[in-house]
Amino acid sequence: MILRELVSLPSFAGDVEEGLLKRPKSLPCKLFYDRAGSALFEEITDLPEYYLTRTELAILHDHADQIAAAAAPGVAVVELGSGTAAKTCTLLQALSRRQLRVPYFPVDISPAALADARERVELQCSGVSVRPVVADFSHGFAFLRDVPGRKLVLYLGSSIGNFDPEDAVPMLGQICAELRPGDALLLGTDLAKDPAVLLPAYDDAQGVTEKFNKNILRRINRELGADFDLDFFRHVALWNAKQSRMEIYLESSRPQTVTLGLLSLRVKFANGERIHTENSYKYTLSMVRNMLEPAGFALDRTWFDERKWFALHLARV
Ligand code: AVJ
Repeated sequence: MILRELVSLPSFAGDVEEGLLKRPKSLPCKLFYDRAGSALFEEITDLPEYYLTRTELAILHDHADQIAAAAAPGVAVVELGSGTAAKTCTLLQALSRRQLRVPYFPVDISPAALADARERVELQCSGVSVRPVVADFSHGFAFLRDVPGRKLVLYLGSSIGNFDPEDAVPMLGQICAELRPGDALLLGTDLAKDPAVLLPAYDDAQGVTEKFNKNILRRINRELGADFDLDFFRHVALWNAKQSRMEIYLESSRPQTVTLGLLSLRVKFANGERIHTENSYKYTLSMVRNMLEPAGFALDRTWFDERKWFALHLARV
C-alpha cells in the first residue's frame, strides 16, 4: 500500500489492486489473456456450446464475395486483434480475386500470434502481402496513419462486446477519426437471443470457461504471490436482460481472506461475494446503429447466419 504512493505500480498489479479494492469487486477482462488464458480461449472457440466463432466464420465463408465486392476496389485490410488470423483467409482470398495486390496488416498485442498470422496467410493466400503491426489499442489507433490508401478495418469476434456502450462509442470514434471517406469498418457482433443458448455458451459442460475465468486467479497467485484457493471460488454466468449482456463472475463459496504478498494486501470475501470478471454484450440492430452512428460511421450493410445468431456489419466513414 505504501509502494503505491512511491511509484506507480506496473499495470497488472495496479489493475488487480484497484479491482479488488472496489465494491463490488471486479477485475478487467483483458487480464484473462496471459499465455494460458489465450490457449484456454482458443479451446473455448472449439466448444460445441460456444457458437460465436464458427458462426462468424460461416458468415465470412458464405458472403466473402459480397463483402469483398462491397469493400473493393483497392483496399488494404487492417485487422484489429487479428490473433493468428484464423478467420481472415477466405475474405483475403475473395479480395485477391478482385484486386492485384491485397496488403494485409494484422494488428495484435502478441508478437507470437502475429508470427502465426503471417505464416498462415502467406501459406494460404497468394497475392496477399502481410505486414504485421504490434500495438496495444489502449494507446490509440495512430498506426492506422501508416497504412497507405483505402482501408477496410476488420474488428471481428464480437470483441467489441466487452465494452460498455459508453466506452465502445469513443473507441469506435477514435478509429473513425483515423479513416477517410471511402474507408470502411467490418464489425462482428454477437446478437441477442434465447438465454437457453447464451448461458451454456458461457458455462460449458466441460468446464473450459470455468477454467478460463479462474485462470485470472491462477495468474494473480503466480505474478503477485497471492494465495487464492481455486476450489473456493465458483464460476457464475448470468444473463442481464436489461443491459442485454452476459456477465461472468468468480463467486466465493465461503467467508475467506486472501493475501496478495507482492502487494502487501489482504482481501476479505463474504460467503457468496462475487468478483465481476467480464461483460459480453449481445446486440440488436438498433444497438449496433446507436454505437456506430455517434462514432461517425454509417451502417451500410449487415450479413447474418441462417439462425441470425451473429452478424457482420459494414460501416462506412
Ligand atoms: C473474446 C470477448 C469475444 O465475450 O464471448 C468467451 C470472451 N468469455 N467466453 C466473449 C469469452 C467467456 C469472448 N470474447
